[in-house]
Amino acid sequence: MSKKIRVLVIVASVRPRRRADAVLAWWRAATGPCAEALGVDVEIADLREVHLPFDDEPEEPDTGRYIHEHTRRWSRTVAGADAFVVVTSEHNHSMPASLKNAFDHLAAEWAGKPIAWLSYGNTSAGTRALLSAKQVATTLGLSSVPGDISLHLADWTGDTPPADAARSRRAVRQLERLVAYAQALRPLRGPRIDVGGLAAGLVAHRAQTGDAAELLVLQRCCWVDEAIVNNTLAIAALHEDLDEVSSAIATRRVVVVRRGARLIASVQCWQDGADWRIGRLMVAPDERRRGLARVLLRYAQEQRPPGTRRITLATGAHSRANIALYESEGFEQVRAPADDVIELAKRSDLCNAS
Ligand SMILES: Cc1cc2nc3c(=O)[nH]c(=O)nc-3n(C[C@H](O)[C@H](O)[C@H](O)COP(=O)(O)O)c2cc1C
Repeated sequence: MSKKIRVLVIVASVRPRRRADAVLAWWRAATGPCAEALGVDVEIADLREVHLPFDDEPEEPDTGRYIHEHTRRWSRTVAGADAFVVVTSEHNHSMPASLKNAFDHLAAEWAGKPIAWLSYGNTSAGTRALLSAKQVATTLGLSSVPGDISLHLADWTGDTPPADAARSRRAVRQLERLVAYAQALRPLRGPRIDVGGLAAGLVAHRAQTGDAAELLVLQRCCWVDEAIVNNTLAIAALHEDLDEVSSAIATRRVVVVRRGARLIASVQCWQDGADWRIGRLMVAPDERRRGLARVLLRYAQEQRPPGTRRITLATGAHSRANIALYESEGFEQVRAPADDVIELAKRSDLCNAS
């Protein structure tokens, strides 16, 4: 499924009286119909409102450990975006410090996503700001799309950029490219995870909020099979909504596997009291019978914290293929089925034997 692309427009200037708002209004008017036709969600991140103090996190951003709520909020905003448009002025032949600070606050949240540039300024129309900003963006794993738009302040009448149909068309083309890049780059998103035994052509990464919609569709598709073999619709995985899947992504270790841009498999694991719990192991129907479920099951077992004594999971009482897989990996049924669900467990010290 191709989900809606979320474009985050970052307004760099935080000056009290700024031209940025007029530039943004021009861009929105020029690209609005195109964004609607492409089904793009456009959100604005005004750095004046995002309000990040300078370099105030004790840990380096690539640890992903943030202590301040403003950084966590910024992290969620950037992680949830598929692509960026930066609206920036030029300060002393470089980008404004507010923009550099917004980039520097995060790391992995930017990686593998495209970015489009819209600058404005005096002599160089802000293009020198872009030179420095692009260097930073490249370091963070962002990919600049071609076709920067740069506005000369000298051309303005008062506080408004002049009408220019050719420039408006360029803005539309830039947005179209941005969306195409966002779709093409999706397989590169998020830090890649090294999953032993993963077949060539498949890429695993930690699920991000932006994966929730695709994950939900795959989950429902996979659990329809479970509903059929168990002759019941009373299966939690079939009824979860987008918020619940997003919440699992935020609180559990959720791994997704993609073939190209398509999400084809996933597994989750988390601490459940004294046990390490594995759940929502799913592989798209046309990708089954190639050992991917076993690869993910083993990976999920390996993620248990040191000292874990037991790994648990559950499946439908009539899900014969699942039960066979789990038993072949050393899991044993721990009690009689209740509500048509079988609980299985494995002693952690047996994991390396599987
Ligand atoms: C600290 C500072 C440095 C500036 N340096 C440049 C510059 O190097 N090149 C340029 O074209 N304009 C420069 N300008 C002018 C800005 O491009 C202009 O003020 C623009 O409107 C700023 O964007 P804003 O109004 O949205 O904040 C500078 C402005 C400030 C405040």
